[in-house]
Amino acid sequence: MSETTDQPVVETPHGAGKPDMIVLEGVEKIYPGSTQPAVSELDLAIPQGEIVMLIGPSGCGKTTTLKMINRLIEPTSGRILLDGKDVTHVNGDQLRREIGYVIQQGGLFPHFSIADNIGVVPKMLGWDKQRIRERADELLHLVGLEPSTFRDRYPRQLSGGQQQRVGVARALAADPPVMLMDEPFGAIDPITRERLQEEFLDIQRTVGKTIAFVTHDLQEAVKLGDKIAVFATGRLEQYADPDTVLTRPANDFVSDFVGGGAAVRRLSLVELAHLELHPVETDEAGTSGATGQGTAAGSRNGVAVAEVDGSGRPVSWRHLPDRDAAGTPLVTVPISGSVYDAVDVMLDGCASLVAVVDEEGRAQGVLHWNDLVGGLRTRQGHA
Ligand SMILES: Nc1ncnc2c1ncn2[C@@H]1O[C@H](COP(=O)(O)OP(=O)(O)O)[C@@H](O)[C@H]1O
Ligand SMILES: [Mg+2]
Repeated sequence: MSETTDQPVVETPHGAGKPDMIVLEGVEKIYPGSTQPAVSELDLAIPQGEIVMLIGPSGCGKTTTLKMINRLIEPTSGRILLDGKDVTHVNGDQLRREIGYVIQQGGLFPHFSIADNIGVVPKMLGWDKQRIRERADELLHLVGLEPSTFRDRYPRQLSGGQQQRVGVARALAADPPVMLMDEPFGAIDPITRERLQEEFLDIQRTVGKTIAFVTHDLQEAVKLGDKIAVFATGRLEQYADPDTVLTRPANDFVSDFVGGGAAVRRLSLVELAHLELHPVETDEAGTSGATGQGTAAGSRNGVAVAEVDGSGRPVSWRHLPDRDAAGTPLVTVPISGSVYDAVDVMLDGCASLVAVVDEEGRAQGVLHWNDLVGGLRTRQGHA
């Protein structure tokens, strides 16, 4: 935790814990004409480079909180610090150039081309045309849109998912250290939303922004958040990492909010890279003997042998040590995935085991259904 006095936050040395980038201290908002605060006595500190998910029922003050950080809404009382500086009274326009903001449907200007939409803040900052154009192309590429196809189009010519990608690109344009995202994927169909979430995490691995992200979707909060802030009406009820919120809800409100299915949601928190894999050997299709990495024939009894295609990707099981598994289709899951992903492909393929593959799709090992359950049991012991 950083100091929360008027002194600037002391820089922590590299790698030795992250200083808080966004700090809210006793922040309150009472809208004119209202007697109840929309947000009351809010204390929240977001460390540099982390994603904090703000979640809670509709009307609990999530959007109000976000808009107080970039001063689209003035707090009634309390202090807001960015990177150790009190910004409660600095010029709001100035502040908003240093904070990326993404809202539902991208919030794009309909009469601006995609490139011009992305260039809004750089233009205000006085960048020259060439630099703005290059930056727009760079960002379109980053968010997975081919610049030559998209830069001259207009928002209405893009799908919801594409518009949302442009919204993210626009928020990143001037490389702000802080991003505020208000239900950015809320209006997107579930399949596209999942893809956008994956891409968002990929992008965040590159850009490392400090992000306050509003959602009403618990699965999204668990998947994306380093921490989750659970709000009830106007109040923060729990602020902790996703695992803690799911396994140790702070009170009845959080526990009701998290509801049933917490155990299933936790599956997405357990990374396959942390589990011990059973060895796998590979045979190229069409060969009967041992090729590739293993000497399959010599160790048939104890080790699974997968038949691989010309690129080394497993296509079917040639041998499985477990008799009961005979005839099981070969399903794969990337090592970067979670137990949730493994269970998903296994249920989908009616398979009792799964081949874990690397980025190139090559088999790294095997996981059985029981390993996954066992992995969770070990984890529960730690919790
Ligand atoms: N401009 C406004 N004027 C008056 N009341 C508002 C205004 N904006 C939001 N509210 C009220 O403040 C509360 C919190 O709203 P909001 O922050 O939008 O919640 P959330 O984003 O969590 O759904 C709600 O009761 C809402 O009706
Ligand atoms: Mg809202």
